[in-house]
Amino acid sequence: MATIRATHATTYALKDGRAILIRPVEPRDAKALGEFYCQRLSDESQRRRFLQCRGGKLAQAELAYLAGAADRDALGLVATVAAEGSRPRIVGHICLEPARDELPEMAIAVADAEQGLGVGRALMMAAIAVSQKAGVRSWLAHTFVYNTQLRGLVAATGCQAELVNVEGDVFTYRLSLPDAKTLRQAS
Ligand SMILES: CC(C)(COP(=O)(O)OP(=O)(O)OC[C@H]1O[C@@H](n2cnc3c(N)ncnc32)[C@H](O)[C@@H]1OP(=O)(O)O)[C@@H](O)C(=O)NCCC(=O)NCCS
Repeated sequence: MATIRATHATTYALKDGRAILIRPVEPRDAKALGEFYCQRLSDESQRRRFLQCRGGKLAQAELAYLAGAADRDALGLVATVAAEGSRPRIVGHICLEPARDELPEMAIAVADAEQGLGVGRALMMAAIAVSQKAGVRSWLAHTFVYNTQLRGLVAATGCQAELVNVEGDVFTYRLSLPDAKTLRQAS
């Protein structure tokens, strides 16, 4: 897989008026990522993200792996919001993982309390923009057949989804990324 590297942070406005910052995940985010996945995602959102029930638990090693994306040529972006009196909270995370057949695999999750406000769209657009710069034109995405939110998000960001595999109730899509003009129109 081509190296897809994000270097810049970007701000977006959510539908409720709050600002989010989208930036590359860093190794020091491992603990905050754990809080995000284990405390801000419902069991169902965790299941949809990891395609299995995690029971609110992610091992330290897995969190360190996700937080260390840049060190292994994967892409990880987090969305954060300002939190009163403490460090900004992670409310969304998107990963592009190198995959066997060379197409990066995309996975995304947004905190339950912040879903429907534009965090997913902002994360996808940021990851698409970084991919375009690296010359990557397609991703793979695995999702439950009934995940209408994910399918809506894919369409909203101008990606073309082609069903390439079905395994039980998990569909795998090849997502053709929009060109820069279509991406601007989707923003
Ligand atoms: C899928 C997910 C990432 C979407 O993130 P989100 O922040 O809620 O999405 P956004 O608010 O940015 O919505 C963007 C678009 O997605 C679509 N969408 C969002 N929620 C939707 C819903 N409930 N039904 C249908 N479409 C929906 C809409 O087209 C929306 O555009 P609009 O706001 O102009 O209507 C989020 O629901 C999530 O984390 N789900 C659990 C984990 C998961 O399913 N991950 C995918 C597996 S890889």
